[in-house]
Amino acid sequence: MSRIGICIAGLNGAVASTLVAGVCLMRRGLATPVAMISERYRQSHQLAGLDDLIITGWDPRGETLYESALRHRVLEPHRLHPIAKELAGLRPLGGKGSVAAAIDKFRRAHRLDTVIVLNLIPTGENAASAQYARAAHETGSPFINFTPNNCGESKLTAIPYAGRDGKTGQTWLKSVLAPAFRARDLRVTGWYSTNLLGNEDGKVVGHPVKGRQKIRDKSKLLAPMLGYDPFHLVQINYFPPRGDTKESWDYLDLEGFLGLPMQIRISAQYRDSILAAPMCLDLVRFIELAHRQRATGPQTWLSLFFKAPYGTKTHGFSKQEQMLVEHLDACRPTL
Ligand SMILES: NC(=O)c1ccc[n+]([C@@H]2O[C@H](COP(=O)([O-])OP(=O)(O)OC[C@H]3O[C@@H](n4cnc5c(N)ncnc54)[C@H](O)[C@@H]3O)[C@@H](O)[C@H]2O)c1
Repeated sequence: MSRIGICIAGLNGAVASTLVAGVCLMRRGLATPVAMISERYRQSHQLAGLDDLIITGWDPRGETLYESALRHRVLEPHRLHPIAKELAGLRPLGGKGSVAAAIDKFRRAHRLDTVIVLNLIPTGENAASAQYARAAHETGSPFINFTPNNCGESKLTAIPYAGRDGKTGQTWLKSVLAPAFRARDLRVTGWYSTNLLGNEDGKVVGHPVKGRQKIRDKSKLLAPMLGYDPFHLVQINYFPPRGDTKESWDYLDLEGFLGLPMQIRISAQYRDSILAAPMCLDLVRFIELAHRQRATGPQTWLSLFFKAPYGTKTHGFSKQEQMLVEHLDACRPTL
C-alpha cells in the first residue's frame, strides 16, 4: 500500500486540528468515517487508508495539535482524551529553510510515495498561499486550496490541483436548491444570506476588507445556476458566542404562477470544521488518485467541494456530483 504524506499549511487551525483528531479517532475505532464521500470508492480505487496517512505542516503558532484542538473547542475535551498523546506529539515544522526543502525532507524521512500540500491558512493570505503552491509545484506534490486565497494556480502546470474555497454549508445548500428552482421555473426575486460565525475564521471573514474574497465566492455562483441575476445579499458576521457552531439564515423571495409571491426561510446550525475536515480528507484521497494516474492541472471533477472551482463554471451540486461519479467510473483502476 502507498504511504501518503499530508503537509498542511495552517496546522494549528480549527479545520486542520479537527482533521488530525478525526484521523486519530477513526484509526482507533472511536469514530466512523461519516460524511466522507471517498469511503464509497476506497476499495474500487485503492484510495489511501487512514493508516497510510502521515501528517505534518506549518503554523506560526507552534502549538501541539492537542493544544490547538483544546483551544478551538470543536470536540469536547473528553473526546480528545484517548488521543491526547498522539496529538501532543505533533507540532508544526520550524520556520527555517524553504517550504520545498521541508517537503522533500518529510518525503525522504518517511519514505512517502506521495506528499499532498493542503492549504488551510486564513482568508486574505494570498502571498503565503502562493508560496505554498509554488513549493508544491517545485516538489511535484499535488496541491489543494481549501481557502478563498489566490495561489497563482495558473502556474501549477505539472501537478494536479484543486480549489478554491471549500463549499461546506450554506453555499453547498444554495447549490442544491438554486438548480431545483430553475428546473421548476420558479423565479427567485431575492436571496438574502447571513452567517453568524465565532471561530478564528469568522473573525477574519467577518472583517469588511479581509473577508471580501469569501463574500465574492459566496455571491458569484447564484446567477450562473439560475440563469439570471436576482437581488442577492451575503453577509458574514463575527459573533464569538457561536464559536465553531455557525448559524446561517437564508431568506428567499420567489415568484410563482400569475406573479404571486412566496417565501422560503432556512435556519441552519452547522459546525464549520466538522463539515470541512472530512471534505479535506476526501480531497487528499482523490487528488492522490489523480496523481497516481498522472493527471495534471485543475481537477474539475472535484468541483463539488468548492465555491469557486478551478477550471469549470459548473456550480450546481447535482451536476458536480455527476462529474465526480462519471470521472471515477471512467478511471477505475484495473485490479
Ligand atoms: N471551516 C469551513 O467550513 C471552511 C469552508 C471554506 C473555507 N475555509 C477556509 O479554510 C481555511 C482554514 O479555516 P480554519 O477555520 O481552520 O481557520 P483558522 O484561522 O482556525 O486556522 C488558520 C491557521 O493558519 C495559521 N497561519 C496563518 N498564516 C500562516 C502561514 N503563512 N503559514 C502557515 N500557517 C499559517 C494560523 O496561525 C491558524 O492556526 C480558511 O481560509 C477558511 O476560510 C473553511
